[in-house]
Amino acid sequence: MEDKFGRKITYLRLSVTDLCNLRCRYCMPEEGICKKAHEEMLTEDEIVRAVHAAARLGVTKLRITGGEPLIKKNIVSICERCAAVEGIKEVCITTNGILLPELAAKLHDTGVKRLNISLDTLDTEKYAYITRGGELSRAMKGIETALCAGFDRIKINSVLIGGFNDGEIADLAALTRKYPIDLRFIELMPMTEQEEFGAGAYLPGEAVLKALPELRPEPADGGVAKLYSLPGARGKIGLINPVSSHFCAACNRIRLTADGKLKPCLHSSQEFSIKGLDEEGMMERMEQAILAKPACHAPLSSDSRSEAGRNMNAIGG
Ligand code: GTP
Ligand code: 5AD
Ligand code: SF4
Repeated sequence: MEDKFGRKITYLRLSVTDLCNLRCRYCMPEEGICKKAHEEMLTEDEIVRAVHAAARLGVTKLRITGGEPLIKKNIVSICERCAAVEGIKEVCITTNGILLPELAAKLHDTGVKRLNISLDTLDTEKYAYITRGGELSRAMKGIETALCAGFDRIKINSVLIGGFNDGEIADLAALTRKYPIDLRFIELMPMTEQEEFGAGAYLPGEAVLKALPELRPEPADGGVAKLYSLPGARGKIGLINPVSSHFCAACNRIRLTADGKLKPCLHSSQEFSIKGLDEEGMMERMEQAILAKPACHAPLSSDSRSEAGRNMNAIGG
């Protein structure tokens, strides 16, 4: 369906858990989060019902997110059931990759077509720092297993952080020469947790163009990234610039959190609960949420933080 501004909503980002096996410093607190009561979270049946409701309203693309979606015990069954919903043409997952060695093939068998995998650095110690304890070798093994499992497209997400990985732009970009993958640099969004990075942490996507003057523009593919490529590369380089140039005018998405709240906009605190509703009730609430989508969110900067009211792990990005 269309929102009040004529934007067609065809993409549902579905967060299946707010828990994670890592603790990225820009995403969630060191101590993790208070586990919410089981009864507050959507059940598997409710998740599938919500996907049916969304599909009836014209959603065709589903991205399963977290926290880390692969830590959910029933993730394979959730993917299988969501991929089978009439009208859903594409099921994708955003993951940190740590559990892909065990799960990539099973997820591919369920009909999941595309994976986006987070990787902010190629340095073992820096990876352990940014994720507060994660092992780079496991994430890399996850990426390599996914490449062998036959997904249509694999994208790596690297959040650009001044003073942390700005010296690695060329090395990260070179992954598109080594593997048939896309690499997207994402501007750090000022949510609630990254005060510790300090004033120089935010870098505009432009910094990538300066570091890699050999990048050539590529045609847009309808996603949120501006696309480029390195000469001779097998995949593209994307710049996701939500801070320096937001993409609200072309927004085609709504979000559903693991505790059953529809979020019309990533950076707004407005939420609509669908917990406990039947399919008709969920559809009605979804229509309300779509009609409540703002034209645009307030500008983001270190002085003007996101009004999301949740950390990223509880939204799913
Ligand atoms: P594709 O389906 O491959 O186009 O994926 P995607 O880019 O929509 O999803 P992904 O989960 O890989 O997110 C990449 C980055 O874009 C993350 O940092 C998200 O937080 C950010 N992002 C995704 N959707 C939005 C949005 O609607 N607004 C803003 N500001 N950022 C978004
Ligand atoms: N700014 C930009 N991207 C973020 N992500 C998580 N938190 C932030 C933030 N504050 C990214 C993760 C993951 C995707 C879902 O969102 O790195 O790739
Ligand atoms: Fe976990 Fe992803 Fe957040 Fe890192 S960014 S803590 S991997 S949910």
